[in-house]
Amino acid sequence: MKFDVVSKKVDSVKADALVFPLFEEDKKFENNLKKVDDLLSGELSRIVKSQKFKASEGKILAVPTFGKLKVNYVFIVGLGSKKKFELDILRRISAYTVKKAKELKTSDLVIDIDTDFEGVDIKEAVQALTEGAILGSYNFDKYFSEKDDFKVESISFNTSKNVNKESLKEYIHLGKVLAEAQNFTRDLVNEPANVINTIQFAKIAEDLAREYGFEIKVYDEEEIEKMGMGAYLAVAKGSENPPRFVHLTYRPEKSEGEIVIVGKGLMFDSGGLNIKTGDFMRWMKTDKAGACAVLGVFKAIGELRPNITVHGIVAAAENMPSGKAYRPDDILRAKNGVTIEVGNTDAEGRLTLADALSYASELKPDAIIDMATLTGACVVALGEFTAGVMGNNQKLINEVLKISEKTGEWMWQLPFNDKLREQIKAPHADVYNVGTTRYGGAITAGLFLEKFVDPKIPWVHIDIAGPSHHTSGWYYHPKGATGIPVRTITTFLLKRANYLK
Ligand code: BES
Ligand code: ZN
Ligand code: ZN
Repeated sequence: MKFDVVSKKVDSVKADALVFPLFEEDKKFENNLKKVDDLLSGELSRIVKSQKFKASEGKILAVPTFGKLKVNYVFIVGLGSKKKFELDILRRISAYTVKKAKELKTSDLVIDIDTDFEGVDIKEAVQALTEGAILGSYNFDKYFSEKDDFKVESISFNTSKNVNKESLKEYIHLGKVLAEAQNFTRDLVNEPANVINTIQFAKIAEDLAREYGFEIKVYDEEEIEKMGMGAYLAVAKGSENPPRFVHLTYRPEKSEGEIVIVGKGLMFDSGGLNIKTGDFMRWMKTDKAGACAVLGVFKAIGELRPNITVHGIVAAAENMPSGKAYRPDDILRAKNGVTIEVGNTDAEGRLTLADALSYASELKPDAIIDMATLTGACVVALGEFTAGVMGNNQKLINEVLKISEKTGEWMWQLPFNDKLREQIKAPHADVYNVGTTRYGGAITAGLFLEKFVDPKIPWVHIDIAGPSHHTSGWYYHPKGATGIPVRTITTFLLKRANYLK
């Protein structure tokens, strides 16, 4: 998809469709929309009136122009009420616009951006519109024999205001990189485990490293054992696909700091000997969403090259039942020496992360962020659309939460406390991999991870079990993988690098 910024009079715009975002409160047409209505002899306002069109969020009125303009259609796209307006609505309406354009086979769009977006900075607005268009056009159709090949080819943002076009284009570029990185993550997460297994995952990371010049080290089973990663290794044992521990590093010439991002990388989670029943095993190909988000973030920073050192860590494994599988009651020793008693083999993600976080701590970074499809309990607590955030440093947690408000990747903090800490005490080892009750399961999982992070290092854990995928999709997310939280984490890095304010 190509993007541009233009300043054209409405009667000279040549495109398939001219798009006007409109607030519910704006009953009278103004500016360019008024001019278009005049050129259409008032037909537009007549239709709006006769259909009682209300510009509620995402509602689209598409009106053919019958040759009265150099565009075939005028779209009026509802922004909803001004009182409820927020940046993410621009991503959503952009995605809905592209869908409508696809329906009507209109491939060149001009979007009027003269609307006052309720104080939202025009640069951020254009970035969000770009992201929404790219995210909303995504679908995972590579395995269909017959596909719909029609694509929206180009979007131009039209403004009559005196704006710095070059700086708008920079933000378009930023939006494009972020959304394409997110789509890259979606593509990986959507691949089933018979296509992306541990070995294949490591290969994809190596290809990415080659493409962008990252350092990479992939440890095999023997090396993982040598490093003393007894928890991770136990999880991997039941599978025919051997574990691969991936360490990517982006090292710019000038660096403002050093961050480690860790992703849970279960290529498939059958539950192991505590096998998942019924429909609970469906979608467990997405248990690698955290790992794939790490690769998405690396794709984005590979493109943007901010001044910050970033490590990406994935302990890739597959959780399967077999004669070699680890069992309930097994006692494991993690890399940092902490012993773990296994209460349930389906609580495997935290075991792989235990060793990944121990390894990350040894790098002595300024901060560690992990992303993991860790618990069903988090989905019960917050619903399918919101990620749970926990950690050992309130400042860092606030930093991430604040960014997520703008990226539209909803996050909410869950509280740590000593009473729940008591619930992961094990009968015969330092820690249990499950809580003694189901209650607060997302938090007890977070508290388990806490044992493997150097307490001197600020750390945030993001449980994405809910929003990493969806069976029917929402807003600009189609069914399947969403690519959350690639934009939030990349934005965090860009801010730390002083690439963004
Ligand atoms: N991968 C699952 C968590 C999950 C559930 C992700 C639903 C996405 C959607 C995780 O490994 C798991 O199975 N967790 C168990 C933990 C329990 C055994 C303590 C769970 O949530 O039931
Ligand atoms: Zn599990
Ligand atoms: Zn899992």
